[in-house]
Amino acid sequence: MQTNNYTKICDHARKITVLQSTLALLEWDQQTMMPAQAAHYRAEQITFLSGEMHHLRTDKAFGGLLQETVSSDWLCSQDADIQANVHELKREFDKATKIPHSLVERMANACSLGQMTWVDARKTDDFAKFLPTLKLIFDLKREYADAVGYGESRYDALFDDYEPHAQSSKVAVVLRSLCDSLVPLLQKIRDSTDRPNVSVLSRQFPTADQATFGKMAAEKIGFDFQRGRLDVTHHPFCTEMGPNDCRITTRYDEVFFNTAFFGILHEAGHGIYEQGLRSEHYGLPSGKFASLGVHESQSRLWENLVGRNRQFWNHFFPMAQSRFGHALNDISVDEFYRAINDVRPSLIRVEADEVTYDLHIVIRFELELAIINGELDCADLPAAWNEKYEKYLGVTPQNNAQGVMQDIHWSAGLIGYFPTYSLGNLYAAQIFEAATQQLGDLDTMFAKGDFVPLKNWLNQNIHRAGQTLEPAELIRAATGTELSHEPLVKRLTQKYAEVFGIS
Ligand code: CO
Repeated sequence: MQTNNYTKICDHARKITVLQSTLALLEWDQQTMMPAQAAHYRAEQITFLSGEMHHLRTDKAFGGLLQETVSSDWLCSQDADIQANVHELKREFDKATKIPHSLVERMANACSLGQMTWVDARKTDDFAKFLPTLKLIFDLKREYADAVGYGESRYDALFDDYEPHAQSSKVAVVLRSLCDSLVPLLQKIRDSTDRPNVSVLSRQFPTADQATFGKMAAEKIGFDFQRGRLDVTHHPFCTEMGPNDCRITTRYDEVFFNTAFFGILHEAGHGIYEQGLRSEHYGLPSGKFASLGVHESQSRLWENLVGRNRQFWNHFFPMAQSRFGHALNDISVDEFYRAINDVRPSLIRVEADEVTYDLHIVIRFELELAIINGELDCADLPAAWNEKYEKYLGVTPQNNAQGVMQDIHWSAGLIGYFPTYSLGNLYAAQIFEAATQQLGDLDTMFAKGDFVPLKNWLNQNIHRAGQTLEPAELIRAATGTELSHEPLVKRLTQKYAEVFGIS
C-alpha cells in the first residue's frame, strides 16, 4: 500500500517536471531563436503552462499522499533517495500551498511591472520612478515571508527559496569575516605598482574563433555536447529541459577575450553539474541540484579555480596563440595569466574579479537584509549603497544606473538570491581544497589538459547526491568542514600575492 503511494507520488512529481522542463524549453527558445513577433503568443503559452504547473503543485490528493507517507513507519525503513524525495516534495508542497493565490498574483504583477519600470528608470537614471514599485516588491516579499513562515528571521523564508535549509545569520557571520579579510587584501593590491598589462585582452578576437576555442575548452573540462548545446544570448545562462538536454549560452565581444571564454567555462560548470546528476532520478529531488549556492560553486570552480589557474594556461595558451594568431603572438603565457587575473575595484558586479566580487555581494546582502528587517527604508537605498561602495571598494557611483539600479534582481522579486553567489565562491574554495587533498597535485593534471579526475571527483562527491543531503550536509560530507571563509581567503591571498608581487 505504502509502496503504491510512493509510486503515485513519484508519477505526480514527474508530471510537474514535464511541465517545468517544457517551460524551460519555451523560455530558452524565447532567448535564443524566437522571432520578435512571436512574443505575444509565447507569453500565452507560458502563462497557461505555469498555471497548470501551479495546479499540479498544490493538488490536494498529492498533498494527502505526501502527508500519509511522510509520517509512516514504512518511510523510515526506506533508502536515502526515497526518504529525501518524500521529505523534499512535502516541503515544497507545504510552501506552495501556504501562499494565498491573491498574493501569487500580486507578486507576479508587481514583478512584471517592476522589470518594466526598472528598465525605464535605469535608462533615464531616475530612482524616484523606480522607488514605488521597488517598495511594493519588498512589502509583498515581507507578506510572503509571513505567509510561508520562518524560524529565525523573515529573510530566511526568502533565502530558503534559493538555498533550502540555510540560516542567514550563519551566512552573515561568514560573509562578515570574508569581507574583513578581503578589504585589506584589496588595499594591498591597489598599492602595488607591479600591474598586469590588460590591454592584450582587448585586441581583435574574431567571434567565430572565440566560439571554436570556447567550445573546445568546455568539451575538454567535461561538458558533454551529445547531451547539451552552446548558443548565443544577451544574458548568458544555463538551463536544462530533460535528463540529457542541458543548454548553455554565452555572448561574444570581438574586442575583449574574457567575456565569452570565462562565461563559457562558468556556464559549462553549471552544465557539468546538471549532466552529473543521476538521470534515472530525473524529475525527483534525488535527481535535482542541491541549491543555487552549490550550483554556483560548480560554475565558479571551473571558471576561476581551474580557468584562471596558471597550469591550465600552460596547456591552453599555445592553442590560443595558434587560434588567435597576431593577437597573442607577442606575449608570454605569464603576461597572459597576469592579465586575466587583474584585480581592480569597479562599480559593476558582473565585471568584477575574484577578489572584489564578494564585496559587491556583501553590499547587496546587507542592504536587502536591512530592508526586510525594517531597518532601512527603500527611499534611503541610493545613499546607503554609495556609502558601502566607498567603504568596501573605495569607489563611488556617479549615478544610480551605475549604482543601486544596476542589477535586475530586486525588480524581478529575487530577494534572498544574492548571497548564493558568495556561497558559490566559498563552497568552491572548500571543495577545491578537499579535491586537492584527495586527488593530489591537480596543477600537474591541468598542465597536461587532464580534467577527468577532478570532474569524476565532483560527480561522485557533489553531483550524484542530488538533494539527498541538505546543502550544508553535502559540503560537510564532501569537504569534512563547515561553511568557512578561510579556504577562499587563503587561496586568494596566496594567488594574488604572487600575481601582484606583494610580500
Ligand atoms: Co552562475
